[in-house]
Amino acid sequence: MIDLTGKVILVTGGSQGIGAATVKTLYQAGARVILHYGESRGKAEEIAQQLGRDACHLVQADLGQKQAAPELWRQAMQWQGKIDVVVNNAGMISATSIDDDFATWSQNWQQTLQVNLIAVADLCREAIHHFQQPNLQQKPQDPQQPSGIIINISSRAAFRGDQPNFMHYAASKGGVISLTRSIARGFAKDNILAYAIAPGFVQTERIAAMMQIEDAAQLTQDIPMGKMASPEDVAHVVAFLASGLSPHTTGTTIDINGASYVH
Ligand SMILES: NC(=O)c1ccc[n+]([C@@H]2O[C@H](COP(=O)([O-])OP(=O)(O)OC[C@H]3O[C@@H](n4cnc5c(N)ncnc54)[C@H](O)[C@@H]3O)[C@@H](O)[C@H]2O)c1
Repeated sequence: MIDLTGKVILVTGGSQGIGAATVKTLYQAGARVILHYGESRGKAEEIAQQLGRDACHLVQADLGQKQAAPELWRQAMQWQGKIDVVVNNAGMISATSIDDDFATWSQNWQQTLQVNLIAVADLCREAIHHFQQPNLQQKPQDPQQPSGIIINISSRAAFRGDQPNFMHYAASKGGVISLTRSIARGFAKDNILAYAIAPGFVQTERIAAMMQIEDAAQLTQDIPMGKMASPEDVAHVVAFLASGLSPHTTGTTIDINGASYVH
């Protein structure tokens, strides 16, 4: 039922974790994927080789840099001359305490908001402008099809809050929810759909490393399902949303947290 043949999809932070699972799942559903990566060129190359250069195109950009998103978009567009779906997955998490010196605290807040929220907004801006353009030769002519879809990866922390050392992370992800809802409301007239996904713990390499340090049982104790989600759990939701099969769901957030915080 989910057939993404003909769609070109940009996935940020696609070289590892949820992003890598998403790239592979979208490819399996028939899409051609632009895999954005920050630093891990080796991992990105590995995936591109697996999928083949006709199906997967690599673009590098450091989203911690203020001007990065427009240039990333320009390079991504050069591949197929169109983008149908954007998955804003790249994100960072680094602890900072109110007891840190002000410069450290401020730097952590600025960087987290830049990567997790401002770069997301900047890419959404590029995407909306592109989706609004009429009569693009390569765009689907079917009026039932959306002119474009934006899928933003937020977090359970946006709703539940996070520990004191991760207030900036939670705040950035809360911003992603408001941004997504505003886009859904503001640009529905242009046939643009926007969604957020709010995972709880997802068992990526990063979280697996954390589990080596922290008590794994403690990390999962408040999840009624008793374990973390897999990256594929998120990737499958992305594939469904990218299909455009249910346009009236626009603006919604899909929780993926094993019923640990359903709102
Ligand atoms: N894993 C979880 O438990 C979990 C839970 C809730 C939300 N999320 C969100 O899901 C998304 C993916 O998380 P993940 O667990 O796969 O993390 P991850 O650390 O494995 O991957 C994050 C990706 O973002 C990229 N990235 C980070 N900073 C960047 C920068 N400055 N410039 C360019 N790229 C940058 C990384 O290169 C990487 O590819 C993130 O937005 C994260 O906040 C993850």
